[in-house]
Amino acid sequence: MALQELREPTYVRLAELMHGSVGLSFSVAKKPLVASRLAPRLQRLGLDSYDAYVDLISGTNDAGEFQMAVDLLTTNETYFFREPAHFDLLEAELGRLRPQRLRLWSAASSFGDEAYSLAMLLADLQQAGRIGADWSLLGTDISERVLHSAVGAVYPEDRLRHVTPERLRRYCLRGTEGSAGLVQMQARLRERVAFGQLNLCRPIEALGPFDAVFLRNVLIYFDAPTKQAVVERVLSQLRPGGLFFIGTAEGRVSGVAGLEVLAPGAFRKAAA
Ligand SMILES: C[S@@+](CC[C@H](N)C(=O)[O-])C[C@H]1O[C@@H](n2cnc3c(N)ncnc32)[C@H](O)[C@@H]1O
Repeated sequence: MALQELREPTYVRLAELMHGSVGLSFSVAKKPLVASRLAPRLQRLGLDSYDAYVDLISGTNDAGEFQMAVDLLTTNETYFFREPAHFDLLEAELGRLRPQRLRLWSAASSFGDEAYSLAMLLADLQQAGRIGADWSLLGTDISERVLHSAVGAVYPEDRLRHVTPERLRRYCLRGTEGSAGLVQMQARLRERVAFGQLNLCRPIEALGPFDAVFLRNVLIYFDAPTKQAVVERVLSQLRPGGLFFIGTAEGRVSGVAGLEVLAPGAFRKAAA
């Protein structure tokens, strides 16, 4: 069955749906990319037109396929200790403050690599007596698929290429035979990290206050007004004086008051 081309009105309908529901912003220039990302899925479903697919994901009882479309149109790419300067900055800050209680949020956690990297850092700091024992992390994402995987906490070894050998020994279990090449986070890290579904483009119920929030490599999907609204929503869950991180390639946070720039992609929320 030949797949019809993605026509302009259908593309506009799809772009409006994605923007209205999850804040994703697709310009006209992205039409070929969107078409090629979705084409294999349409063929798998036996659909010969993008119109039929947009009908399907607009329907009230096909949230599953809508999620699939979001997954196909975004990237879940992530790895342990991505953009390491942010982890160093957090470590220095915590070493200075020596907090007894800590709550951290990985606000677009994907498969959980970022949250477990933070958990390794906090576990090390606790062991060194530089923070107290009362610490935990929350990882949230819009995609149920990645969250399910994050709870299982099993990763291909390659994603841990920036994890030190000591941390690998201390916090990871290596797979054998059937699971060779895979690594699982140990229970003592897993029990510190909770995961839940959260759409950053909807009002956020009281989750915080958090001491630090990582909102990295997700703002790139949003247009300027959405980006600003998401940042403000997320910052409302950060305590005054807390640290806020975005991806270093995501530009500046504009129009948001009360943020002191510490380093590329790293900010401190003004004290109350
Ligand atoms: C590239 S990953 C970033 C992972 C991690 N923060 C990092 O920097 O390595 C982007 C994640 O944002 C999620 N995402 C996209 N739109 C979202 C939304 N509206 N609300 C919550 N998460 C969203 C995607 O599902 C994806 O897992």
